[in-house]
Amino acid sequence: MIYLKDVEGRYLFVNRQFETLFHVKRAELSGKTDFDVFPKKIAAAFRVNDEKVLAKGGPHEFEEITEQGGKTHTYISVKFPLLNAEGKPYALCGISTDITERKHSEERLRHANFELKANEKKLIAALAEVAAAHEGLKSAQSQLIRAEKFAALGKLAGMVSHEFRNQLGVIRNAAFFIKMKLVAPDEKVARHLQILEEEIDETDRIIENILSFARKNKPELRKTDIAKLLDSSLAKAGIPPEIEVVREIPARLPLIDADELLLGRVFLNIALNAVQAIKGPGRLTVRAAAVERALEIRFEDNGSGIEEKDLRRMFDPLFSTKTHGTGLGLATSKVLVEAHGGTIELESRVGLGTTVILRLPAAAGG
Ligand SMILES: Nc1ncnc2c1ncn2[C@@H]1O[C@H](COP(=O)(O)OP(=O)(O)O)[C@@H](O)[C@H]1O
Ligand SMILES: [Mg+2]
Repeated sequence: MIYLKDVEGRYLFVNRQFETLFHVKRAELSGKTDFDVFPKKIAAAFRVNDEKVLAKGGPHEFEEITEQGGKTHTYISVKFPLLNAEGKPYALCGISTDITERKHSEERLRHANFELKANEKKLIAALAEVAAAHEGLKSAQSQLIRAEKFAALGKLAGMVSHEFRNQLGVIRNAAFFIKMKLVAPDEKVARHLQILEEEIDETDRIIENILSFARKNKPELRKTDIAKLLDSSLAKAGIPPEIEVVREIPARLPLIDADELLLGRVFLNIALNAVQAIKGPGRLTVRAAAVERALEIRFEDNGSGIEEKDLRRMFDPLFSTKTHGTGLGLATSKVLVEAHGGTIELESRVGLGTTVILRLPAAAGG
């Protein structure tokens, strides 16, 4: 639609479309302003724009709002002044195009876009859920595999160990017999007998570890003095003289409900690992302390340490970095410590050393 107004805003001309849209006759409009045709607010807005164009002396484009039949319509209006010979505006011409439909489609588009975004969020959330479920499934599966591995290992180990154990008993008896019969063995024979006994002990320990898997380890709990048990276990470990053993064990520790045989085996496994990691001169510090309702025991060595990538596999049965390792020491220890209601943890830095931390619940009333 097209319209022409004087500088005061009085209509000079409107086209046919204007007449139909706003239900006015061209003739009736003579001398009237927007305030006679439109609601006050809308008319005022038109006037503001008109004045802008008149002041500027050149064309300008506006987005303008009208009401038609109770509905809001949006227009793009290009307005420009008509200038007299001196270059002064004497009238204003406007051409307005209804863009309501376009506006609506834009609005719809924006809305659709918004919904798309919302759906995208939902999709991402759903994907995250699926991923989490998948992770859960994977860990459940690996736990299942682990449990199966344990069970199969246990069965096999039980069979093998039982056989070996009988054999080992025979060998031990034979060695003992020879030792008894030799009245004054020469040094070499005595040393070899010594080696034989040591190897029998080592083999026995390995078998014991394997059997710990095969059996259900139901510990026979008795109130136990841990300081004493630590001492006897360290003595059994045959720690070489170049390794300094530092004991930081307070005199009065709470008693623990423990199976001395089983827990002693745990201590021995840990001490042996420390000795093997130190390889030569070094230090093993054994600390014990009452912490809350538990006893904390730490075996701290300054040995080789454990590589980050191996740390989480330490307690896996059969995991070993040693040529002659069984990889059962820590796995067994974990089973045994947990059978005591305790926990076992490992902290390690390559080149600096390793600390094994045991926590065992204090005996009730002890
Ligand atoms: N104190 C320690 N310092 C360094 N590495 C250790 C220590 N204790 C355990 N490990 C590592 O953990 C692995 C598993 O130990 P373990 O279960 O006792 O089996 P094994 O001693 O037969 O190898 C060892 O091979 C070794 O790499
Ligand atoms: Mg070991």
